[in-house]
Amino acid sequence: MEHKKIAVLSGDGVGPEVMAATLPVLERVGELFGRSFAFTSALVGGAAFDEYGEHLPQETIEVCRRSDAILFGSVGGPLAESDLPKWKGCETRSILALRKTFGLAANFRPATVYPQLEAISPLKRELVHQGIDLLIIRELQGDVYFGEHTLREEGGKRIARDTCEYSEDQIALVAHVAFQAAQKRRSRVTSVDKANVLHTSKLWRDVVREVHKGYPDVELEDMLVDNCALQLVKDPSRFDIIVTSNLFGDILSDLAAGLPGSLGVMPSASLNAQGFGLFEPSGGSAPDIAGKGIANPIAQILSASMMVRFAFGWSDEADAMDRAVVHALEDGARTADIFSGEGRCVSTAEMADAISRRLSTKGGGVRI
Ligand code: IPM
Ligand code: MG
Repeated sequence: MEHKKIAVLSGDGVGPEVMAATLPVLERVGELFGRSFAFTSALVGGAAFDEYGEHLPQETIEVCRRSDAILFGSVGGPLAESDLPKWKGCETRSILALRKTFGLAANFRPATVYPQLEAISPLKRELVHQGIDLLIIRELQGDVYFGEHTLREEGGKRIARDTCEYSEDQIALVAHVAFQAAQKRRSRVTSVDKANVLHTSKLWRDVVREVHKGYPDVELEDMLVDNCALQLVKDPSRFDIIVTSNLFGDILSDLAAGLPGSLGVMPSASLNAQGFGLFEPSGGSAPDIAGKGIANPIAQILSASMMVRFAFGWSDEADAMDRAVVHALEDGARTADIFSGEGRCVSTAEMADAISRRLSTKGGGVRI
């Protein structure tokens, strides 16, 4: 029996709850398809700080290194406590550090507006009916995120500087990823930049166009980031794949996450050049609802499905998970964030159960 080792980094906030709801779903997938998973938990974020005095301890990195994939929950901490050492820099010291340590360069953030959740989407009905199924591929290793950050004083005034840098190789890597992903979807890539102003964006545009020459079957368009923000709200169904730099991708992916109406249904995958990856919900640690058992586990379950698909190459298993989520929604299961009066309002565990019960080896793929 094929045996996959998974590093389970639940983190803090709602992370441990949605993770606890997700692992039994994976176990059930294993039973149905004759697969087995070995889960090893490791601490990250606030929980790691309590135990080790740091947010990403070496012990955790080692567990990840020995695994076939990382399943990540969330880290963050309550806003009111953000100055405490436990939470200060918690997100950058855990999430950005993991991205750097494992060279995770391409971040996949799909935004699907479920017809079953039409009532909670802020979009007009006509737009939802057109079908919105776009994938943002965000570069994760460069940009202002990893350039030099300085703060100095001149004439008694503070001046801050963040350096934005991109190398050709960083851009080419994510461009290849985007064109290859497009070949498996609707063969359309929108490359987003700010080439009317930034040198990094001019280079971005040049390199993406060069890489595109190797993918004549894929259509490429360039779009400025400000216009892209507008189009995502006005005409989201025009997009298939959006490929963009780290900061623009951060902002646009939250915008896109607003389209279905809840971050609770948005998964993500971050992969390195060797195909090793980290899989996590797009939303944060939601400290305001942590510990109440009401967080939506769908984003975590769909992240696990992306892990099964991308890291292990098991598309039947991933299709089954995606289908089960849609069926549970059709059955009326709704956590509080997606409850609009129709169906029944359920807890985190009940939602995961509703999904587990709908897992089946029969049925085709549904695109999530
Ligand atoms: C994300 C988050 C992170 C980012 C933060 C927490 C550092 O917003 O994954 O989108 O900016 O990349
Ligand atoms: Mg973000």
